[in-house]
Formats: sequence, structure tokens, C-alpha cells
Amino acid sequence: MNVMLLGAPGAGKGTQAAKIIEAYGLPHISTGDILRKAVADQTALGLEAKRYMDAGELVPDEVVIGLVKERLSQPDTDKGFILDGFPRTVVQADALGGVLTELGKELTAVVSIDVDMQALIERLTARRTCKSCKGIFNVIAQPEIANGVCPACDGELFQRDDDTVETVTNRLHVYERSTAPLIDYYEDKGVLRHVDGNRDVEDVWTSVDAILQG
Ligand code: AP5
Repeated sequence: MNVMLLGAPGAGKGTQAAKIIEAYGLPHISTGDILRKAVADQTALGLEAKRYMDAGELVPDEVVIGLVKERLSQPDTDKGFILDGFPRTVVQADALGGVLTELGKELTAVVSIDVDMQALIERLTARRTCKSCKGIFNVIAQPEIANGVCPACDGELFQRDDDTVETVTNRLHVYERSTAPLIDYYEDKGVLRHVDGNRDVEDVWTSVDAILQG
């Protein structure tokens, strides 16, 4: 099963990806996570990517396309994969199509998680992530995490550098300009399925899982 999750920043792609991993054990290909690891490891890629990420801008297409091509070539993706945060431009989507054809793979499901703009800002500025288990939480929905301790593993919670109001606002503009056109792109290919992401996590998951089960 080869799944793509589309949606604005904060739509819940990472949250639903964790549910898919739990249910189906698919490898998770999140370009945001790959880039954040490169930043943390201070690699050449990370040093280049950081200035785009901190500003809420997209990292250049050729950089992320190369990363995803390399990742999709690894054998663990033969049983399926979850693409999260890629593609984000039409150039990336075209490149992905070419890579999948080369590898003899195709997308099983493209799921668009649709959430109202105001809710996105609230979700992102209240997001906390665990340094240890990578769990995603929300300090408004889960006020008990205000102590900075992960409720799943007791690890340390942190706020992403790009989750400030200013950067979030730019990320949402960038989404509208560069990524939202992918809705029509995949709609035209007849593979897009919409999910109302304004509901709680479990209700969204019920809809996502129903799509995955065909
Ligand atoms: P990336 O890490 O991909 O961030 P994003 O797409 O902006 O998405 P997020 O991770 O912010 O949100 P999400 O949809 O996963 O929501 P989540 O589940 O965490 O990219 C970061 C940066 O890297 C980009 O800005 C860019 O610079 C670069 N980059 C990455 N990919 C790139 C690419 N392909 N090309 C170029 N550059 C790229 O949930 C958010 C919050 O909401 C959490 O607190 C969660 O608990 C809560 N929540 C989730 N679901 C619900 C729900 N149903 N109800 C209530 N709250 C919910």
C-alpha cells in the first residue's frame, strides 16, 4: 500500500501517519523529519535547509526530490510507504511520478486532510513533539503536557522552531501558493480522496482507515 498524505501545515499528516504506521507497519517518509534530522546533525544539507525552514519557505525542489528518490529506492519501501510532506510543488509531483514509474511502483491512495485555516494556526502554535518517541501532542488539547514531559514515554517535549506565529503564517501562505494546486493535480488523476480533518483525531483516523481499506 503506497499512501500519500496531503494537507496544509498542521492538518494532522504526522498524527495520521503515526496511526497508519501502528495499523499497517509502513515506512514513514516525511521530508520534514528527514530535513530536521539533517539540521540536528549539522550536515551540509541541514545547514542549507535550515534557513529555508526557519523562514517557513520551501527547501529547493532538487534537494528534496533527491532525498525522496534515494529513500524510495530502499528495499523496505517494497512493501509500501507513507509519503508525508512530499510532494509540495507541481515540480515535485511530476518528479515523483517519474521516480515511481522507474521503480515500478504506483500510489494506492492520495488522502487530502482538509482543515480550516484558523484551526491550523492554533494547532501549530500549540504543538509539542517528544524528543525521544517523536510523539506529537498539543498543549491546548492536552494541558497536562505543559510540564514538558511526554505522556507516552516520559521523554522531553519541545516546540519546533518553525511553530512561531510569524513562521506559521508564512508557511500557510507558502502552502496556498505552492502546494494547494496539488489538490487539483491529483484530483485530475482521479486518485484523490478528501477527509474532513476538522474532527477529532480518532474520527479522522476512521475516515483515513476506511479509504486505505478500499
Ligand atoms: P513539515 O515537517 O512537513 O511540516 P508541515 O507540512 O508544515 O506539516 P506539519 O508537520 O507542521 O503538520 P502536520 O500536518 O504533520 O500536523 P501534525 O500531525 O503535526 O515541513 C517543515 C518544513 O520543512 C517546511 O516548511 C519546509 O521548509 C521543509 N520541507 C518539508 N518538506 C518539504 C518539501 N517536500 N519541499 C520543500 N520543503 C520541504 O499536527 C499538528 C498539531 O495539531 C499537533 O499539535 C497535533 O496534536 C494536532 N492535531 C492533529 N490532528 C488533530 C485533530 N484531528 N484535531 C485536533 N488537533 C489535531
